[in-house]
Amino acid sequence: MREDFSYLKSKDVYADMACQSLRPKPVIDALTSYYTEFNSCGERVKYPWGVKTEELVEDVRRKVLKYLKLKSKDYFVSFTLNTTYGLNLILNQLNPKYFSKIITSDIEHNSTFLSTMAFAEKNDLERQVIARDDNGSLPLEMDFEKALVVVNCVSNFDGRRLENLNELVKRVHKEHGIVIVDAAQALAHNVDVLYKTQADAICFSAHKMYAPSLGVMVVRKDLLSKLDTTFIGGGMVDDVNKNDFKASFDNPDKFYTKFEPGLQAWGEIIALGAAIDWLEKVPKKAKADLSSYSKKLFDFMTKESKIHLVNTKPSSVISFYIEGLDSHLLGAALADEGIMARTGYFCVHYYLDHVKKYPPLVRISLGLHNTQSDVDKIIKALRKVI
Ligand SMILES: Cc1ncc(COP(=O)(O)O)c(C=O)c1O
Repeated sequence: MREDFSYLKSKDVYADMACQSLRPKPVIDALTSYYTEFNSCGERVKYPWGVKTEELVEDVRRKVLKYLKLKSKDYFVSFTLNTTYGLNLILNQLNPKYFSKIITSDIEHNSTFLSTMAFAEKNDLERQVIARDDNGSLPLEMDFEKALVVVNCVSNFDGRRLENLNELVKRVHKEHGIVIVDAAQALAHNVDVLYKTQADAICFSAHKMYAPSLGVMVVRKDLLSKLDTTFIGGGMVDDVNKNDFKASFDNPDKFYTKFEPGLQAWGEIIALGAAIDWLEKVPKKAKADLSSYSKKLFDFMTKESKIHLVNTKPSSVISFYIEGLDSHLLGAALADEGIMARTGYFCVHYYLDHVKKYPPLVRISLGLHNTQSDVDKIIKALRKVI
């Protein structure tokens, strides 16, 4: 896949995919094409540029659902800023009267951890933080009666997946609760974990799936009945009178406007469509290569006695520390070798710092732009440091 990232210099080893992906050429071309050929607003515009924008944006909504193997009769797609914004937007609109408690897990990113904390505090609801199994599953032997469950489906520090997502959703629905999924880390390399899910809402960031900076919300149509309206303005109304208005999101074809106040990032949305097209064409060999690089790093780190590995399984996201060596210093040493990795707690302070009591960590997260030579360089640099 490297030729789609031909702007990358061979000395640069970008290993911070979990934060944001590099963008392949077709995505950059789609964005440039919008800005240079038909830069226009996507709604109610009659001139050809706007008509084209509108058609392409609608097409991306369909592509997102197809990529997740979900149906437009059940779900709609809205665009927002990022995963954090999407989660907060939905939690701020959910009417608390439908819930008896809010449940999250111990390995959550602060986006989920803090937004669930805020929801519980604001609405004076009990909040439970459940320990996830080592394989990423959420234990189901508990009371989910009218529970609002908000959890990630792929971790951003060791890649563990919510393997029992489908059972969880079935169980929670049976007990009149709902499930919101933080899918920030799933869409690039683990989308299958979401296939045909019945979850009530899925929030993710296009910038972690080879697309421009953008948030995406995929929401069950029947969830709208539990949502109040917080933001309202342009792009969300069909008619306005002195003291009232007719909301576009009352129209089943325009449900998505519920989360889209004001002008949208049309070019970025269109380029997300190009990213999905690109992801769907990734050859099996490239996926296998990424798995083999992940395994090579995992095997090396497992054997190296000075490396304390957080992962229990290989993943394109791998976190560790080296005994007796400050991880931030190690990050700087790797940077000197052209290796761009992250250090610290990766916005998972509660679990990594307070539950596991790890020192700050190093995280290497690989993407489809990486090569065998990148992985060899990482291993060589770590050996040198040790
Ligand atoms: C699992 C997870 N959730 C949420 C987020 C937040 O994403 P964003 O900063 O794009 O809102 C991240 C970002 O790293 C993440 O990995």
